[in-house]
Amino acid sequence: MKRIRSARRLQSAVRSARSKGESVGFVPTMGFLHEGHLSLVRRARRDNDVVVASIFVNPLQFGPGEDFESYPRDLARDRRLLRSEGVDFVYEPAAADLYPREFATRVVVDGLDQALCGTRRPGHFAGVTTIVTKLLNAAGPDRLYLGQKDFQQAVILTRMVEDLDFAVKVVVCPTVREADGLAMSSRNSYLTTEERAFAPELFRALSKVRKLVQAGEIKTAASAVKRVESLLKDGPGRIDYIEILSREDLGRVRKLSGKLVLAVAYYLGKARLIDNVWIQAPKGS
Ligand code: PAF
Repeated sequence: MKRIRSARRLQSAVRSARSKGESVGFVPTMGFLHEGHLSLVRRARRDNDVVVASIFVNPLQFGPGEDFESYPRDLARDRRLLRSEGVDFVYEPAAADLYPREFATRVVVDGLDQALCGTRRPGHFAGVTTIVTKLLNAAGPDRLYLGQKDFQQAVILTRMVEDLDFAVKVVVCPTVREADGLAMSSRNSYLTTEERAFAPELFRALSKVRKLVQAGEIKTAASAVKRVESLLKDGPGRIDYIEILSREDLGRVRKLSGKLVLAVAYYLGKARLIDNVWIQAPKGS
């Protein structure tokens, strides 16, 4: 596995692979890797001749007072894991190179950030779309691998790729969970023992309500949200949002029908956890 710090170097390494007709898969990460990231790497490894992963904690996507400084980091372990998964190139840019003092550009996808984390973390998705644009320009991949846990991110990046004609296919892979259902996240490392014991309740609550919607027993968005709220109300943390939206465009729905996503964000100690499940509501419900 080759470590690369400059965009130019990565571009030329990828260009030389492509000139031999090799396909390139790309997995962007902020490091502190877990099985969720590794599942993306494995999928990329299966689909492509060459796999590029990036590790960069992107300051642009953190708001004031968020956890940029304390975000967990373990570069040596990350490199070991990526090497053992057969990654060819790991891109580890420096913030000063990606964002020199005169850096002035933002890539913004309108509209899709008017729900979920977009309304709670102003500027977050502009930070994500800007960095992913830069990473795609550096890695020039055929396929980009993203996780379903960050569902709004996946929807926004898919829109961006289409709108800006990036010649890359977005592959969204299922959320990887701990044995008790907790969605894997680098931020789970913030949880105390007591918080960790409660954390799987998020997925349990979402799954329970998914079942009720799919059985036609819950028919409106308001009652779905209320039901999740009541399942979580005695927990040690605080609900940031619970929303049920159209899966296609993240639009609001009143009556539940078609393809939906039920999503939660929950403050638990130092962590803000997010999770979501996909729901297929029955016809005519
Ligand atoms: O999902 C993440 O870890 C980040 O948002 C990403 C896509 C690597 C951009 O910084």
